[in-house]
Amino acid sequence: MTLPSPWRADFPAFSAFDEDGITYLDTAATAQKPKAVLDAITAYYARGAANVHRAQHRPGERATQAYEAVRDKVGHWLGASSSKEIVFTRGTTEGLNLLAYGLEHHFKPGDEIAISALEHHANLLPWQQLAKRRDLKLVVLPLTPSGQVDLNSASELIGPCTRLVAISQLSNVLGTWQPLAELSRLAHDQDAWFVVDGAQGVVHGRHNPKDLGADFYVFSGHKLYAPEAIGILWGHADALAALAPWQFGGEMVRNADYQQAEFHAAPMGFEAGTPPVGAAIGLGAALDWLSAQDESSIFGHEQALCVKLQAGLAARDGVRVLGEPQIALASVVVDGIHVADLSHMLGEQGIAVRAGNHCAMPLFKRLGEAGSLRISLGLYSDSTDLERFFMALDNALELLR
Ligand SMILES: Cc1ncc(COP(=O)(O)O)c(C=O)c1O
Repeated sequence: MTLPSPWRADFPAFSAFDEDGITYLDTAATAQKPKAVLDAITAYYARGAANVHRAQHRPGERATQAYEAVRDKVGHWLGASSSKEIVFTRGTTEGLNLLAYGLEHHFKPGDEIAISALEHHANLLPWQQLAKRRDLKLVVLPLTPSGQVDLNSASELIGPCTRLVAISQLSNVLGTWQPLAELSRLAHDQDAWFVVDGAQGVVHGRHNPKDLGADFYVFSGHKLYAPEAIGILWGHADALAALAPWQFGGEMVRNADYQQAEFHAAPMGFEAGTPPVGAAIGLGAALDWLSAQDESSIFGHEQALCVKLQAGLAARDGVRVLGEPQIALASVVVDGIHVADLSHMLGEQGIAVRAGNHCAMPLFKRLGEAGSLRISLGLYSDSTDLERFFMALDNALELLR
């Protein structure tokens, strides 16, 4: 069955990929951008860039209005109670570092932070380093064989010493949704904060972080069909009020003297320095573009791609998929073949997939695997991408075996 993508024509990169003989299957690393996003960024710079909030001139007012309009759009997209709950960051990694520094003063030696065994380094290292700075214990929640946090173990490991639980909504390695509702309940029963890394989850469907039970939710624009260097930290009002500022400079300060200063509350108090205005405008355009598409058609298309990908992988001897993916993403290991050799052979044939540990080194150690080949598709992917991938995979397997 062919699965054409009705959205592909909106993404200029695919014409360039066709000319270059590239099959792009690395969307979980970063997504291509629709023309509407490219046009919005060009229009902003072509009409005159300006800094936000500080300038009184017309370009400055225009830039401020456009930037703040994106904050409103993101708030609407996430179902936030107010756009004051939306903090612009440079991405998921910065959002999680902001939280680890911003909440640091609440922790005392012996407190515990719980993460899962599948976390991306971005949702591991900021907590690990905070644990070292404050003499805390980092507790790692184990997984079920299918690749979800094991709730039986979690209910034993999340206890009275737990002050914060930080979990990925959707694994970037295993493609599995995590049981956020149950984990949120376990965290909140102990009065601990519940942080959700939405870097992958935000891309598939529309999620209201409050309904997920999150206190904080972070994501990056570039995986959501928007530019790099823009991200979002959402927090409800009480959660944001618990944060101390972590980066200091212009924009975030209310009153400064040589020896002391007072800072704005969120969101401004967490947006030090000149923000990425053009990238924010690109994020707004991506949300407008996504809002104009039919969500259930996107879901249906991505699920059909998921089924086709899994069926193709299952049909090949010696090809093992890690976990049980629930989206069009698979991490694959081929017995007897090194993943670097495989990805090299695929790269030679124009297949853009990702090989390695996908920024989740401890997970691979736990799984006892050196790495995997990750194939990840987006709403613009179609069945021709998969056909080209499987043809190239068969060639590579024949040569390497
Ligand atoms: C689950 C997850 N968390 C965090 C990140 C980090 O995102 P960024 O590099 O955009 O900050 C990624 C990126 O791949 C991810 O997949």
